Amino acid sequence: MADVLQLQNVGRRFGGLNAVQDVSLTVGAGEILGLIGPNGAGKTTLVNVITGVHRASSGRVLFEGRDITRLAPYQTARIGLARTFQIVQPFPDLTVRDNVAAAALFSQKGISPKEAREIASAQLEFVGLQKQADHFAHSLTLAMRKRLELAKAVAMKPKLLFLDEVNAGLNSAEVEHALALIRDLASRGITIVLIEHLMQVVMSVCSRVVVLQNGSLIADGSPQEIVNQPEVVAAYLGKKYAQLSAAKS
Ligand SMILES: Nc1ncnc2c1ncn2[C@@H]1O[C@H](COP(=O)(O)OP(=O)(O)O)[C@@H](O)[C@H]1O
Ligand SMILES: [Mg+2]
Repeated sequence: MADVLQLQNVGRRFGGLNAVQDVSLTVGAGEILGLIGPNGAGKTTLVNVITGVHRASSGRVLFEGRDITRLAPYQTARIGLARTFQIVQPFPDLTVRDNVAAAALFSQKGISPKEAREIASAQLEFVGLQKQADHFAHSLTLAMRKRLELAKAVAMKPKLLFLDEVNAGLNSAEVEHALALIRDLASRGITIVLIEHLMQVVMSVCSRVVVLQNGSLIADGSPQEIVNQPEVVAAYLGKKYAQLSAAKS
């Protein structure tokens, strides 16, 4: 499996805080990689560093073998990286369709606003928001705003997609719907990094899982390996989950 993404000793400091510390990691083409860990572990910061929102304080980021450590967000978007935001942030006074069209324009050079709207309509249909296409973004429910985030990211035609807690705050039917969309994207060959707190989601869709704690990578393996690793149970999953997992197996 060719590596799509390679992180070499990546770090990011905020003042005296090492939010991400010496993270080395490869992501293979077509993987659905779970990125888990407690709140404040550095998951969102790592995505921000990879996509160019934050500059790395140390280390290198390679995408398809090319050094992208110093690229800006619009540049990483143009070469095929997209992400959703944990805190959903649509333009509230634009329509749902124009929010998605703006993402398409941001990421693809030389397309017209009309082409961007066509891409937007297609992606809104994909996520099931076609009926809301002409509504203002501020009128959407949380679940719909999460779908809008996904439509925006997919409209960027990514090769590598970071999903940052797209299921947080959703009910189980909404989570099922989101999972079907994620599987569909993966089946089209998009490599996915999924930041997720719901372990049943991680266990059911991820081919591999890495765990961050206090900015450092503490585990990397199959979902089964990860849930049975004592450090991961101690740092994140807790005794309750370990008992649950032992009872099932
Ligand atoms: N822009 C920022 N400025 C200062 N500190 C930050 C910033 N972004 C994140 N942090 C800090 O970095 C640490 C990691 O945060 P974050 O990456 O959001 O964790 P996670 O996504 O795993 O919950 C936290 O201690 C957080 O307070
Ligand atoms: Mg986060």
